Amino acid sequence: MAAGIDDIAIYIPRLYVDAADFAENRGLDPVKLQKGLGVSQMAIVDANQDPACLAANACLRIMQKNNLSPDDIGRLYISTESAFDESKAMNSYVIGMLEQVYGQGSFEHCGGVETKFACVSGSYALYDNTNWIRAGEAEGKHALVVVSDIAKYDMGSSGEMTQGAGAVVMLLNDKPRLLAFDPKVTATSIKDEYDFYRPFGKETPIVHGQYSNLLYMIQVRKALESYKKKVVSSGLIKMEQGETILDHMDYINMHLPYSNMGKKALAYLVRHEWRQLPRWKKILDEIGMKEPIPKDPRGTIESVLGDEEFMAKDHEFTKLFTKTQEYQEVYESKLSSSLIASTMIGNLYTASLYLGFRSSLEFEYQKGVDLEGKRIGFGSYGSGSSAMVFSGVVQPSYKEIVRDMNLESEIGSRKRLTWGEYEELHENKLSPEESIVHSNKEFILVHIDTKKESRGERRYVYNE
Ligand code: CAA
Repeated sequence: MAAGIDDIAIYIPRLYVDAADFAENRGLDPVKLQKGLGVSQMAIVDANQDPACLAANACLRIMQKNNLSPDDIGRLYISTESAFDESKAMNSYVIGMLEQVYGQGSFEHCGGVETKFACVSGSYALYDNTNWIRAGEAEGKHALVVVSDIAKYDMGSSGEMTQGAGAVVMLLNDKPRLLAFDPKVTATSIKDEYDFYRPFGKETPIVHGQYSNLLYMIQVRKALESYKKKVVSSGLIKMEQGETILDHMDYINMHLPYSNMGKKALAYLVRHEWRQLPRWKKILDEIGMKEPIPKDPRGTIESVLGDEEFMAKDHEFTKLFTKTQEYQEVYESKLSSSLIASTMIGNLYTASLYLGFRSSLEFEYQKGVDLEGKRIGFGSYGSGSSAMVFSGVVQPSYKEIVRDMNLESEIGSRKRLTWGEYEELHENKLSPEESIVHSNKEFILVHIDTKKESRGERRYVYNE
């Protein structure tokens, strides 16, 4: 049975910090953000928003757009790493909000959980719900998988320039108009790590940025190795001599904590894949330098990062490699369109891979590319750490969805925050009623209880 993504919707908060303002106030070169990281604007949540609100707003959009009633939805999963309760799952808050519009009890049949594994949990949720459909358990109903996050780092930390916020919701069913997932090839890799984590009670994560970047690439490469074995043994793809698995993916969507990380990660994978092939000799000739090897090639990630000579040479090699015509072709044709939304919105943690997927569909379609039958590969990564590699094929009816995609109108009008407003929001100095914008037809947070017996209870309303 086919199963996959039928439609996709986003909700992005209406406030943003501009990279130029950020750089000026943090004493940074704006080119570092704009060109070095690929960050132009970072979406910021208002004082009356939390990740549950973002998720509920995205769900309402996809349901209204498709004229769905709660009876059409069999499961609603939320994946997030911005949870605000240690026990109550975020999907229950979202169902509470949706029932304000669709009627009390209208979702009571709808199962689901909140899933957690840093930025990769949405991919596990998609996989599990796809298998729920494949197993015939859905009985004609759809699943909603929502990825919703607020990427917030400590003031003045190096992570602060890679913030963002938003939610992406995917409607899954057995007749997907957009993308059918390839069966039996989803591959994972997992390792106990402390590259990025958020201990209980802490609002912002503890991050070892460069470590997490390298770990991301290593873990995705491991998952790709396993994916490769699965596609070959299942017969999904026949690999000819001199080919790599990436040649069989028309598009590659990577996890995007910031847009240039996609470019870096793709370069890492392509280098690894091409190294064994005859084409590598030509690339090396073009680059004009030998590929550097760490002093201790079997060492730990720390030892590689600590090998300054290697790191500097590897950086130089990577820069030259990414300038080769061969890499540029791969980058332009398979990845570049997926990065556009990330540049405008910033880091969405769990949602960033899927915002990239959404971005790629819209901007490739605008180029006039016929997407039918194209295979899309996904490289998902979550700190802590796990990676997942999987793929799907764009369906014949994709145009019904993609022709109406318009990122700018879906984001809506936005307000550029002053530095003072940004700092006040970051320090949680504003109460919900002091929100900076007043949005209509959206769910907003109105109250968080502080009384001993009801501490933490949240109240939301749908702003007519
Ligand atoms: N002009 C142009 N480019 C410049 C520049 C300038 N003046 N200054 C620096 N740059 C370039 C650098 O060369 C570098 O480019 P390359 O990556 O191509 O080398 C880029 O800008 C970034 O510079 P640095 O590497 O020096 O930046 P940094 O160390 O200060 O911080 C960061 C970057 C590590 C990503 C940091 O922002 C961070 O810690 N972010 C949070 C963690 C993160 O996002 N990790 C990503 C993967 S893990 C993940 O996604 C977590 C999850 O599951 C939740």
